Amino acid sequence: MTLGKQLGVSIAALVMLNLSGLAAIAQDGNAERLDDRRMFKSGQEAFEKVCARCHTGRPDAVGPEFFSKGYDADTIKYFVRNGFAGMPAFTESMIDNATLDELAAYVAAQAKGTPQ
Ligand code: HEC
Repeated sequence: MTLGKQLGVSIAALVMLNLSGLAAIAQDGNAERLDDRRMFKSGQEAFEKVCARCHTGRPDAVGPEFFSKGYDADTIKYFVRNGFAGMPAFTESMIDNATLDELAAYVAAQAKGTPQ
């Protein structure tokens, strides 16, 4: 086997190992490992970085102000993962699940007028 081929085989093996590792994390819900893969410090930070530019209620924002509408956390998560008319969907590679849980709770708390 040439060096090039050997390298290719080891890279393929590494990729497979990595994928099975991820599947294992998804299955046993290892919170520590999932935290390592978080993309934002908090749900509020993610809201400010991702959602606020379209949803601030400013006259130049393209999306509606929705804090006053009283959506619950599950509804917010649904809109984020599926998109809605002019709003793009945000996948797990854009906002991880742990952050999205916090983001949805943050928005729902704003909707209820509970300061956070
Ligand atoms: C690129 C701009 C944009 C970004 C970024 C964006 N949205 Fe939206 N969003 C929209 C638009 C536009 C609509 C309205 C769609 C329509 O009614 O046609 C909308 C609608 C919504 C609605 C429904 C509101 C209503 O009452 O009609 C929710 C909830 C929502 N977005 C949540 C979020 C959250 C949470 C994020 C951050 C993860 C986010 N959006 C990021 C543009 C955006």
